[in-house]
Amino acid sequence: MDIDLWASDTFASMSVDQSVGWPPRRPITVREDARMDQQRDEVRRRYAAMATSVATGRPEAGDGGCLGPGAGAADVGCCGPATGAEDADCCGSGGEVDPGRGFGRDRYGDDLRGLPEAAVRASLGSGNPLAVADLQAGESVLDLGCGAGIDVLLAARLVGPSGKAYGVDMTPEMLDLARTNATEAGATNVEFVEALMEDVPLTDGAVDVVVSNCVINLSTDKPAVFAELARLTRPGGRLAISDVVAEDALTPGERAERGSHVGCIAGALSFDEYRGSLEAAGFTEVAIEPSHAVTDGMHSAIVRAVRR
Ligand SMILES: C[S@@+](CC[C@H](N)C(=O)[O-])C[C@H]1O[C@@H](n2cnc3c(N)ncnc32)[C@H](O)[C@@H]1O
Repeated sequence: MDIDLWASDTFASMSVDQSVGWPPRRPITVREDARMDQQRDEVRRRYAAMATSVATGRPEAGDGGCLGPGAGAADVGCCGPATGAEDADCCGSGGEVDPGRGFGRDRYGDDLRGLPEAAVRASLGSGNPLAVADLQAGESVLDLGCGAGIDVLLAARLVGPSGKAYGVDMTPEMLDLARTNATEAGATNVEFVEALMEDVPLTDGAVDVVVSNCVINLSTDKPAVFAELARLTRPGGRLAISDVVAEDALTPGERAERGSHVGCIAGALSFDEYRGSLEAAGFTEVAIEPSHAVTDGMHSAIVRAVRR
């Protein structure tokens, strides 16, 4: 069952409070907590199935995670073509992903040269955050929801041996794949950590840059994610995020009509909500630029900001 917390009456009726981010922080009831856990488990199951599919080279049976029935591992791609609501599930429910138009690996161009094939095939992002991260040699970077590690490996190259690239993900199967990919790539300045993006086991100000690729929309506790972004980024550090973002006019219910939560659609924030949350968390110079449509009124966007 697809539980849509963000389209629920509880959340839909909340007003935006810029001082605390969106939705406002307040005590979470036991019932809500259980629903968040359930939804997170559903997300984890889906991405575990995708990782297994890529690792074994076998398409998933049944609903097949993001691949959908009948799709092969080589067709993995987040956010299928923007052909309408029925196709608007991120990662192409029903095997509708068009590798030529999908988001993930098509946004990297020549950057992918030399990466392990499995890292490229398991690319599930909505864009290329590294294109705007301006990573420098010696910097430390954290990828929230790193999946099979494509952005961690690319970041590791850019920051070089004196820098460090961390990848955090909650799905063990994805991390297994990421570690295998890192070994194959010969990357020694990387570290993968199993954790929730809402509670990252790194110290305050641990990194110069946080990147993320089609993950924050999946969070069931977005205020916690924005708080972690601010805590983990050193003052003057930066964010480079690719994510699905909804036009401001779309209500949470209308977003949910366009695709599922696990499919990266229903949990998307609007442009105003994203900006307000980042500013309230302690970021400045917030820029949110849509790059391409995902479905009616919803876009893949590149989000940049600087930690105050
Ligand atoms: C759409 S995939 C994107 C993976 C990767 N960023 C990429 O570009 O290929 C979403 C990833 O986020 C992870 N994820 C989802 N919710 C998470 C959470 N609350 N904490 C940590 N990881 C999460 C999933 O396990 C999955 O690997």
